[in-house]
Amino acid sequence: GCNFEYKVQEQPNGLAQAFVIGADFIGKDKVALILGDNIFHGAGLGQQLSALNSIFGATIFAYRVSDPESYGVVEFAPDGKVISIEEKPTNPKSNYAVPGLYFYDSQVCDIAKQIKPSARGELEITAVNDHYLSNNQLEVKILDRGTAWLDSGTIHSLHAASSYIQVIEERQGSKVSCLEEIAWRNSWITDQQLIDIAKSYGKNPYGAYLSNLLIEN
Ligand code: G1P
Repeated sequence: GCNFEYKVQEQPNGLAQAFVIGADFIGKDKVALILGDNIFHGAGLGQQLSALNSIFGATIFAYRVSDPESYGVVEFAPDGKVISIEEKPTNPKSNYAVPGLYFYDSQVCDIAKQIKPSARGELEITAVNDHYLSNNQLEVKILDRGTAWLDSGTIHSLHAASSYIQVIEERQGSKVSCLEEIAWRNSWITDQQLIDIAKSYGKNPYGAYLSNLLIEN
């Protein structure tokens, strides 16, 4: 029941360009950005994110990783206040990486327009976040280790993410992020719509999984 519209970023000029390309679409709305190669999985995460509908400024996340130099990195003061945010620092000031999930108020489009390309030639999302930080409008929430954050942007990390999902799905017998199941459980589609969608998959295991939902529940 959703309609999606797409705009293409013709060149890989950086994440912040999303807010230049999408400025007319966003208008005065609040907006979320999620990177297509980032995977999030954890109990209660959906509710936690749904609660973010009244944000002011920017809300981003921090997640402890072993290789922070590959990411945006947040430095915290002992009282939890954010001191700095840096993109792929050679000497990271903490182990807290910024995952690819960002929530902004409508200032973001104007901020993104002012950003200049970094040394790697990209409009960095970290520069946008740093701008919010300078204005005291950046909130960084720590995603604890109960949430899995996986990156699937390299062959190796895609393989690791696939293994993780396979283990969870096979052990629990439930699919991770099955869109039809989510829509059905939220009553966005009816039983009959679920049946019709399941049939459209023919006899493959995905269709069988969807048909089974109605039998089991
Ligand atoms: C981008 C961001 C970086 C962030 C990462 C999350 O990195 O620039 O700040 O931590 O996504 O996946 P890139 O994909 O450009 O290497």
